[in-house]
Amino acid sequence: KIPLLIDTDPGVDDALALLLAFNDPRHDVVGLTIAAGNVGLRHTVANALKLCEVAGVDVPVFAGCAGPLLHPAPDAGYVHGQDGFGDVGYEPARQQVQAEHAALAILRLSHEHAGKLLLVALGPLTNIALALKLDPTLPERVARFVVMGGSVTGHGNITPAAEFNIYFDPEAAHIVFEAFAHIDLADWEGTIAHGLHHERVEQWLAADSERARFYERISKKTREWSADRRGDYWHSADAYAMAFALAPDGVLEEAQRPLSIELGHGHARGMTVVDWQRQSGRPDRARILLRYDQARLEGLIRDALAAV
Ligand code: BDR
Ligand code: CA
Repeated sequence: KIPLLIDTDPGVDDALALLLAFNDPRHDVVGLTIAAGNVGLRHTVANALKLCEVAGVDVPVFAGCAGPLLHPAPDAGYVHGQDGFGDVGYEPARQQVQAEHAALAILRLSHEHAGKLLLVALGPLTNIALALKLDPTLPERVARFVVMGGSVTGHGNITPAAEFNIYFDPEAAHIVFEAFAHIDLADWEGTIAHGLHHERVEQWLAADSERARFYERISKKTREWSADRRGDYWHSADAYAMAFALAPDGVLEEAQRPLSIELGHGHARGMTVVDWQRQSGRPDRARILLRYDQARLEGLIRDALAAV
């Protein structure tokens, strides 16, 4: 099995991505390292623990950085609920968070699974940036690195220029994008191009499983919010990224390009600047997912929700 380490800030769409990962027979989730992002770290950690409990999986959860490396955090509670899981008031999980810091866990697990590790980042890149500062040789041990982040043609979701995960901690994203020679990128515009029809999502959520019942509750608010803003289709950025990570044979179109992160404090802060015309002379770092098999994506989500 491929060892899979997920850095995440659950978050409703992170939760769906985690269910996809738990349900994949070819991957073994060796840890969840938790970032602050969609909501504060206290909530993202509690949500990760709760999701593991609901899914009935025994996966260690490591708390990471409580905020961005340098600048104050933007708030996204209006998308995922103030607690990040739709404010449904669930009973806290019995499982405890590990004592080890997420950045140290990333490094340790990279040694334990050197050359085989699939690392997937579904939130702001703070923990991974910190791990890189502690040990810049980390990329040598990671077999594949998949990131949900960025908006490659300039249609941001948090500002006109920037996607949330990158905007939350652009300095961290810069450190990470400079350190890894190859990053598989699932971005926001790719997410939007792979919408999930609300009616179909509701059918999947009606499955007779604990996972579907819990996910139906925690995602309700954000699905309503999304229906008001974006119409018939719901978008799960992190599930889209996880499908790319778990089943890369579903990729129908991709592009390799140089990519850099804008760190200025003007309108473009946190922008993922893709060098589409290769003007910079810099190496192609990002393999950008442009089109993924929609039926495959939907099948993975349906099965992950129905799993018991
Ligand atoms: C990303 O930001 C968060 O809102 C989601 O969990 C996803 O990782 C989308 O921009
Ligand atoms: Ca996320």
